[in-house]
Amino acid sequence: MAKILVTGGTGYIGSHTVVELHNAGYEVVIVDNLSNSHIKILTQLHAITGKWFDFQEIDLQEEKAVQDFADANPDVTGIIHFAASKAVGESVEKPLKYYKNNFYGLINLLTAFNRKLNFVFSSSCTVYGQPDSLPVTEAAPVKKAESPYGNTKQIAEEILAETAAVTPDLNIIALRYFNPVGAHETALIGELPNGVPANLVPFITQSAIGKRGPITVYGDDYETPDGSAIRDYIHVVDLAKAHVAAIKRLEEGKSELNYDVFNIGTGTGSSVLEIIAAFEKSTGETLDYKIGPRRAGDIVQIYGDVTKSNQELGWKAALDLNEMMRSAWEWEKYIKANPF
Ligand code: NAD
Ligand code: WQD
Repeated sequence: MAKILVTGGTGYIGSHTVVELHNAGYEVVIVDNLSNSHIKILTQLHAITGKWFDFQEIDLQEEKAVQDFADANPDVTGIIHFAASKAVGESVEKPLKYYKNNFYGLINLLTAFNRKLNFVFSSSCTVYGQPDSLPVTEAAPVKKAESPYGNTKQIAEEILAETAAVTPDLNIIALRYFNPVGAHETALIGELPNGVPANLVPFITQSAIGKRGPITVYGDDYETPDGSAIRDYIHVVDLAKAHVAAIKRLEEGKSELNYDVFNIGTGTGSSVLEIIAAFEKSTGETLDYKIGPRRAGDIVQIYGDVTKSNQELGWKAALDLNEMMRSAWEWEKYIKANPF
């Protein structure tokens, strides 16, 4: 089977994707600079799969290190590129860190692996902004990004499309994720937020375990059924499996285009208050929350049209909100008892 490079493979989505690639029979090599993850994830991956994965601590911003890796690994036929900085709020405070990290890494990879290559890219539904109509399809216009982070995803998609247009041997799929949540069923890997979580579900689990105070619902006066904002939450394991489907499609040469984009979500929207209720129902825990003002930059609602992914990738989300909340909670309890 093909040897796949997973950049950012000790990170949240990357680590779950390493498990699913292994389960699908792929050989995996991980590159990560551990700037937002922990080396112990390799031990956790071994506990889940029985395999010690080939890991190299490399900063993708270092052009020579990336080239040396590419030259030393001629058998890498595919790359799944997760490695990037991803905190929206931080990107507003430190735009140059985001433009440097997210573009140098991508460009160094594309330059170093200047050979026949299959490439799956981590994009985001954030490129849509507030869609004009819902569910949002891949044909929807990309709107002006609300943050430097979102801008890095939009521009990265342009870099990939324009490079693919003049590089017939480079076959690319960009996956536009909606909101990844949850953790592996073993509770041995999950999200490791740095500092106070900005995202809803990790804040919920940290509040429930007593690590944070009450949850603030950022606005209940939106034009939605219960007034709180709506998102398309997808289980991280379903998301990981979408990457296997994407790399398989490229490996099998099934893509008529050498640059294509797919929405990866459930196609269903859930409000903040519905997520809170789902967590309480799934875990039996009672959450302490209050209604606060809207958060700057938030859109009202978004959920994906996933017809293209279902039909062309042969992928469909299978895990429901209950499993998303249950697994997120089990992981939070695990990491409290077994801090890295
Ligand atoms: P994460 O921070 O958990 O994982 C990213 C990994 O990349 C980390 O292990 C980090 O150490 C590594 N990394 C960062 N910069 C690097 C560099 N220069 N060289 C080598 N390694 C580097 O984030 P995640 O949530 O797993 O997200 C993975 C990808 O998915 C990112 O590109 C992110 O933008 C994208 N994405 C995430 C979400 C989300 O809500 N989590 C949604 C849409 C898209
Ligand atoms: C979800 C909903 C909040 C926290 C972000 C990035 C996006 C992607 C996924 C990287 C919103 C509300 C949140 C809280 C709340 N990341 N909320 N109280 O903003 O949809 O997307 O993460 O690619 O690019 O923008 O996710 O989890 O931050 O918020 O009420 O304490 O929960 O207002 O409506 P978001 P989120």
